[in-house]
Amino acid sequence: IEGALADGPLNGRHVLVTSGPTHEPIDPVRYIANRSSGAQGTALAAALRDLGARVTFVTGPASVPPPEGVAVVRVETAAQMLAAVTAALPADAAVFAAAVADWRVANAAGQKMKKDGTGQPPALSFAENPDILATIARMAEGRPGLVVGFAAETERVVEHATAKRARKGCDWIVANDVSPETGIMGGSENAVTLITDQGAESWPRMGKDAVARQLAARIAGQLTGQPV
Ligand code: CTP
Ligand code: CA
Repeated sequence: IEGALADGPLNGRHVLVTSGPTHEPIDPVRYIANRSSGAQGTALAAALRDLGARVTFVTGPASVPPPEGVAVVRVETAAQMLAAVTAALPADAAVFAAAVADWRVANAAGQKMKKDGTGQPPALSFAENPDILATIARMAEGRPGLVVGFAAETERVVEHATAKRARKGCDWIVANDVSPETGIMGGSENAVTLITDQGAESWPRMGKDAVARQLAARIAGQLTGQPV
């Protein structure tokens, strides 16, 4: 296997990556989901591995396979993802690339929901999911030294993502425009803006693999104190 054995600037470092969508059950056979493919998180985990990190990859039901040479933890729901992330700590850095469902179905049924013959659809009620990124970023003890979030926005990307960084207490936010006309959600390219305490830095549109390699290099620079 490559990865933990690879010689690189992240040798001996543990990095946690979340990826993919989450699925929130409605009943045993139905769920709420989103269009995340898991491609960006998967590429990032592979890039961190290639720099020598030991990577724990906590993934929802993604449409791309997880990378080789990383420790894969498969989850379905946001609640399971939070538990898996907490169990994987401590980590030197944590990157939250998952598209976590914001809401779960509060009145999920234990059995398959049946049409009742009246033509009346069932009423679903929702509860807000825990914010995994904010939970970790605000840990009083054992917080990873570098906490990186993503921000999926469809308008006023930098403004919304800058506010999100402050609200969640993470160190960096990788903002991307996921409005349908960009074709980014589910596609192979990404156009991101990296938001740090130094401000906002827009990167040209490039393949998700290239975004991953650049971000991994920045993370390595931050952890080793030798910025690229
Ligand atoms: N995130 C998380 N747990 C959640 C929701 C989001 O860990 N329950 C993380 C995502 O993995 C991402 C970041 O928070 O790194 C921002 O996700 P995003 O959906 O853009 O932000 P939200 O805070 O959910 O705000 P909104 O969707 O309302 O814009
Ligand atoms: Ca959200």
